[in-house]
Amino acid sequence: MAFTLINTLCLFVSFSGLLFHTHAIRTPQARVWALCKPTTNPVVCFKTILPHVITAKKFNAYTALEIEIIITRELVVNTTNLITTLLANPSNSKSLNDSLEICSDQYDNMLDSIKDAMSQVALRNAGEARFKFSAVLSYLSACTDEFDNSPIVKEGKELYDIGGNCLDIMKAIEDRESRLRRRGATVGSPPAVPSPCQNEIGPCS
Ligand SMILES: *[C@@H]1O[C@H](CO)[C@@H](O)[C@H](O)[C@H]1NC(C)=O
Ligand SMILES: *[C@@H]1O[C@H](CO)[C@@H](O)[C@H](O)[C@H]1NC(C)=O
Repeated sequence: MAFTLINTLCLFVSFSGLLFHTHAIRTPQARVWALCKPTTNPVVCFKTILPHVITAKKFNAYTALEIEIIITRELVVNTTNLITTLLANPSNSKSLNDSLEICSDQYDNMLDSIKDAMSQVALRNAGEARFKFSAVLSYLSACTDEFDNSPIVKEGKELYDIGGNCLDIMKAIEDRESRLRRRGATVGSPPAVPSPCQNEIGPCS
């Protein structure tokens, strides 16, 4: 997941160029940025979701959310492998082994919560998905609290950002759906994005 500032800048420069030549509201870039801008780590959100949205026929916030959840799960699996590798070291102290065992349990729990959250996303129930998914970040801190400095903590930071993005997107979907309900409109249509000028990343006319 590592990326450089230069990379990011290049992304934005090229997308600003794209936006300049088309109507901002219609570009996938503008839609993804509108979704990602208020999240925990907007750049990571944008970078992870955009490639999938570019190839999709129609933008849908639930689909974007699914992408971010799948990446969260990938990170959890990767760190689980790291924990297994670290646990196999015969020179580990007893307390390190204990901490790694705690993490191993927490990461197993995360996979269960992610699975439950995914089922709720499939049912287009953002509120229930957020409830299930919020456990992931609790399990994460129960693990990282065991360490001051470890590759687990570093990977945990990435997980915190991506997981935070998922929660933020779920909350945004929930808020929009309840606004629609209050207005008496039918819910179930894909959430729209706010005006491009309010979330501009390039010139906006
Ligand atoms: C998980 O690990 C694989 C193999 O090292 C890597 O290619 C992939 O990018 C990692 N996934 C994430 C989300 O970092
Ligand atoms: C920690 O776990 C490893 C792998 O199972 C084992 O070889 C090692 O003896 C354990 N360390 C202690 C102090 O029990």
